[in-house]
Amino acid sequence: MSGLRHVQVPLGDRSYEVVVGHGAAEFLGTVIPPSAKRAALVTQPGIPLDAETELELERFEIGVGERAKTLDTVGELCRGFARMGMTRHDVVVGVGGGMVTDVAGFAAASYHRGVPVVHVATTLLGMVDAAIGGKTGVNLPEGKNLVGAFWQPSGVICDLDALDTLPDREMRCGLGEMAKYHFLTGDDLLAMDLTDRIARCVEIKADVVASDEREGGRRALLNYGHTLAHALEVATEHRLAHGEAVAIGLIFAAHLANVMGRIPVERVDEHFAVVGEEYQLATDIPTGLHADDLIELMRRDKKALTGLTFVLDGPEGVEVVAGVDEAPVRDALARML
Ligand SMILES: NC(=O)c1ccc[n+]([C@@H]2O[C@H](COP(=O)([O-])OP(=O)(O)OC[C@H]3O[C@@H](n4cnc5c(N)ncnc54)[C@H](O)[C@@H]3O)[C@@H](O)[C@H]2O)c1
Repeated sequence: MSGLRHVQVPLGDRSYEVVVGHGAAEFLGTVIPPSAKRAALVTQPGIPLDAETELELERFEIGVGERAKTLDTVGELCRGFARMGMTRHDVVVGVGGGMVTDVAGFAAASYHRGVPVVHVATTLLGMVDAAIGGKTGVNLPEGKNLVGAFWQPSGVICDLDALDTLPDREMRCGLGEMAKYHFLTGDDLLAMDLTDRIARCVEIKADVVASDEREGGRRALLNYGHTLAHALEVATEHRLAHGEAVAIGLIFAAHLANVMGRIPVERVDEHFAVVGEEYQLATDIPTGLHADDLIELMRRDKKALTGLTFVLDGPEGVEVVAGVDEAPVRDALARML
């Protein structure tokens, strides 16, 4: 089929291919390990794509939303795998958004101490982010994604046909994550059609993951825009979805870099052009939020090992900047509040 893009995630003997394009689901068989005899299909009700495979297949539906992203769900799945007599010569196929691929991936990482998994991403966020790079996991009542494993898939399918049924808000969330890739390299992603753009985002993520699989350093760049985003999600009690918060976080990161003299105002305008104009995402901090609270939440960010820490654009490109003073952070927030 023409129009498909094949992107390699180069991780030595764990390298794999990501197939991107309309109709890519037909290529599922090409990324399933040849040794697999049976497949456990993990999905959710209402997901439009079915896995097209010759293999004997057992279907498992899991709940929808972060509340179902639990160890209990993983336990239920693993019990199902045991009942079907799954072995390391079979394969788990996760068909869904990031929630499904995180859960299916973690169940695959845990069952029999690791069985192969293939992801079929059906949300934009899954395609450009969650299904790529091998991070899997579930939530605890104490926090998001607190239990998990690095477990690379054997292959990933990003079939753009799935996006036809994606609700607008989920599409916006994917666009929020996609927007960050516009600033991680010098590429003109706006000049690309959606297939090429998604494939390029996958390539950028693959490159970062290949250089820092277990998030010791460079992988933190993928958190561009995320420091304020996490604070906004908490401060709004998750009324703002993750991707919506990332969109605002990107604009804030641009303002902060400008206040700190790292980028000119024209570069801030470029952030607006992508986030606000091209992707039509909201760029204002919601009313009723206060700088003091947001700064306090940002101090608690996972990256914040030495004072306030951000991923910021600058003359050398986007990089992690630790020990940022509070004054420029306040100035940047004041521009947006
Ligand atoms: N592992 C990683 O590297 C990584 C990266 C980013 C996010 N994540 C995780 O991803 C999750 C968010 O993923 P998401 O944004 O894809 O949300 P999601 O998986 O929760 O899906 C959102 C909703 O859309 C529905 N849906 C999915 N595909 C559909 C389609 N094609 N048509 C109609 N409805 C569809 C789902 O059933 C769900 O109700 C979070 O749990 C987050 O922690 C993981």
